[in-house]
Amino acid sequence: MSELNKIALQIISNGKGILAADESTATMTKRLDGVNVPSTLENRLLFRETLFSSSAMTDCIGGVILFDETIKQISTKKNKIPKLISSMGSLPGIKVDTGAKVLAGSTNEKITEGLDGLRERLKKYYELGARFTKWRGVYSISEKHPSKLAIYSNAHSLARYAALVQESGMVPIVEPEVLMDGEHSAKECYEKTSDVIKKCFEELILHKVDLAGIILKPNMILPGNKSKDKISNEEVAKLTLECLKSSVPSEVPGIAFLSGGQSEIEATENLDLINKYNDTSFIMSYSYGRALQQSALKFWSKDIKNIEGTQKIFNHRAKMNTLAAQGKWSKDLEN
Ligand code: 13P
Repeated sequence: MSELNKIALQIISNGKGILAADESTATMTKRLDGVNVPSTLENRLLFRETLFSSSAMTDCIGGVILFDETIKQISTKKNKIPKLISSMGSLPGIKVDTGAKVLAGSTNEKITEGLDGLRERLKKYYELGARFTKWRGVYSISEKHPSKLAIYSNAHSLARYAALVQESGMVPIVEPEVLMDGEHSAKECYEKTSDVIKKCFEELILHKVDLAGIILKPNMILPGNKSKDKISNEEVAKLTLECLKSSVPSEVPGIAFLSGGQSEIEATENLDLINKYNDTSFIMSYSYGRALQQSALKFWSKDIKNIEGTQKIFNHRAKMNTLAAQGKWSKDLEN
């Protein structure tokens, strides 16, 4: 077993999942504005270290994805943030892309940037304690989108990123996110997601990426958030499994879904059903941002000094998702 494969398995085995706390300052500001807390450096750190020092970090969270600002911060108890995370029994990770920009040659599509100087940045992040990384490509669905150009250019960047990350001794999370925004049906989401993922693996293989040393972070197969098409959670789970079975090579150890705008319960329920029906060799876990943090953030915003209360809410959400990652969740456990 390669070192990278071991790290990937350590992050997502036995129901463990990933806390995506890598919101850029702009996104974090949007989240904090939403609950009327000023987005200061101190407040961003306080909320995040509250999560990072909760007991769920030991029992449920195998890895935390950080933003550049956070990986360099010192907690109020004078702990380096990556040190705090590893002392809790979890692994620190880092988002290394620099965001999605307008894709030249297309209308309203995006290409993710951050390859320039990446090898040098990776070295620094490794020294700071990171053992895995994330890069997100985004694709929208409409009549013409995602275009062939967007599918190819994002796959190419994801593969170049993944190859550099493995060279630096870390596990790349490969995240091609087909967005939920729009009126499209679940069938369209299935087809586009399948095209996107297949192209990603074509490029990953071309760039000689060790597939046993990555984690794939895809969207689930869902109708668009403005779609008339409504499908059951069972159908979401079955379509998602079907899509991944036909597009992901079997060497990949695991898949950690993004929540992408689903409610907390929806994201948990869908993950649970995916695991109840899982007839693949892949570990199916979570790498949630909003679906792990929303309730905790709302509670915290009412009294930012209530660390224990905030942690209780976060611990519950993480526990529910860890049960779901083993197909052991049920609705009555929520109360
Ligand atoms: P959400 O779970 O909120 O979609 O965030 C996951 C993530 O890391 C997106 O890049």
